[in-house]
Amino acid sequence: MNVTELRATARRHLGPHFTRKDTWAGDFPVFVRGEGSYLIDTEGRRHLDGLAGLFCVNMGHGREDIARAAAKQVGTLAYASNWGSAHPPAIEAAELIARLAPGDLGTTFFVNSGSEAVETALKFARQYHRSQGAPERTKIISREMAYHGTTMGALSVTGLPAIKKPFGPLLPGVRHVPNTLGFTGDCGPANELDCVRAIEAVILEEGPETIAAVFAEPVQNGRGALVPPQGYWPALRALCDKYGILLVSDEVICSFGRLGHFFGHGLTGVVPDLITFAKGSTSGYAPLGGVIVREQLVGELYDSPLGGVFTHGATWGGHPVATAVALANISAMRDEKVPEHVLAEGPKLFAALRSLKDAHRCVKDVRGTGFFYAIELTADRDSGRELTGDESLTVLRQVLPEAFRRTGVILRGDDRGATMIMISPPLVADQDVLSELLHGVDGMLTDVEKAVQP
Ligand SMILES: Cc1ncc(COP(=O)(O)O)c(C=O)c1O
Repeated sequence: MNVTELRATARRHLGPHFTRKDTWAGDFPVFVRGEGSYLIDTEGRRHLDGLAGLFCVNMGHGREDIARAAAKQVGTLAYASNWGSAHPPAIEAAELIARLAPGDLGTTFFVNSGSEAVETALKFARQYHRSQGAPERTKIISREMAYHGTTMGALSVTGLPAIKKPFGPLLPGVRHVPNTLGFTGDCGPANELDCVRAIEAVILEEGPETIAAVFAEPVQNGRGALVPPQGYWPALRALCDKYGILLVSDEVICSFGRLGHFFGHGLTGVVPDLITFAKGSTSGYAPLGGVIVREQLVGELYDSPLGGVFTHGATWGGHPVATAVALANISAMRDEKVPEHVLAEGPKLFAALRSLKDAHRCVKDVRGTGFFYAIELTADRDSGRELTGDESLTVLRQVLPEAFRRTGVILRGDDRGATMIMISPPLVADQDVLSELLHGVDGMLTDVEKAVQP
């Protein structure tokens, strides 16, 4: 099939995810191959994959070592479950993850996606409290504008009203608290910050004995790469300890090198009770997600008279091929010192993005760390004029998609709470790739400025 036929067939038979009808009616790209930090389309054109797929292709495209690990596993044992039995790839991947994870986070329940990981953490938290004689601890606290996934439980935890609205009623007992927008770096004692005090206020309002867990990302994606202020995570940990609440670090994006560390702990210094992960664990070479739980909590659940079993599972959970891929991917990431590369190059990338802010009056803010950034757009920073609703739609639906095509750099326009461009390149991107990325961003910002001129 040529590209015209491929698009027509897709329009008829393939259901696109989070895609507007007019986008699907247009000339959307069809990618056929990946090489390092680049995607190649049907016409042979190379595009810099500046979002690493969807924040996931951390080790880059087209790695033969990972492909070989997958092929070998398919030929050896394509399927066996983790229900009352096990197989080497899941065991070895779980052990490797335990070695890299902070504190006593040593038991991994594998699932198939980030949403399922969040769903699993929710269910573990509820069953854990029930097993410890606290069945009334069912409520969840999470943050405004945070994305935690699309399945009904994960969607309930998500704090983005627009994507929840079509599906109510959702899970009861989920409260959303302010995120850390506007607070970063040294903001003084964290427990005096509004974004921390609001959490304690909600805990007291609901009754601490009814709260099961707090969910938060180390750096929140929704609302644009919100890096928390100093002391924020220790304050979250202290609140959870004070009130007997489980702290869940949703690291579906932030783990496996994105912030320059294997886990969010490298940034926050805090050991959570559960970590959810997905994307970078396989760099997209196979679907996988999981929840890492503190061994003490798993032991307490198993040993309790009401416990004995975590009443949860999935046919594909810890699939041999997906876990063999995870093992190859994470080992390569460790051996090739990829998090160290991100730690070295991330500050330069941030500095270069900040100079683009100085050069373009349509940039209101640049936030992020590691290889994870957001550029927040405005109409004119100098006069303080914000984009109108219509201008924002034009930027997100016309100017940016066209600029991605023109520059050959694919990023993501984001409308969640502001008009933003998200940047999250493969972690193996070298200085040449990063300068090409920055050149593309420079061009896009010029396009935005032309489109919103008075
Ligand atoms: C923090 C976070 N949690 C959960 C999810 C859901 O992951 P998935 O799309 O694999 O279901 C995402 C996806 O982007 C995410 O960023």
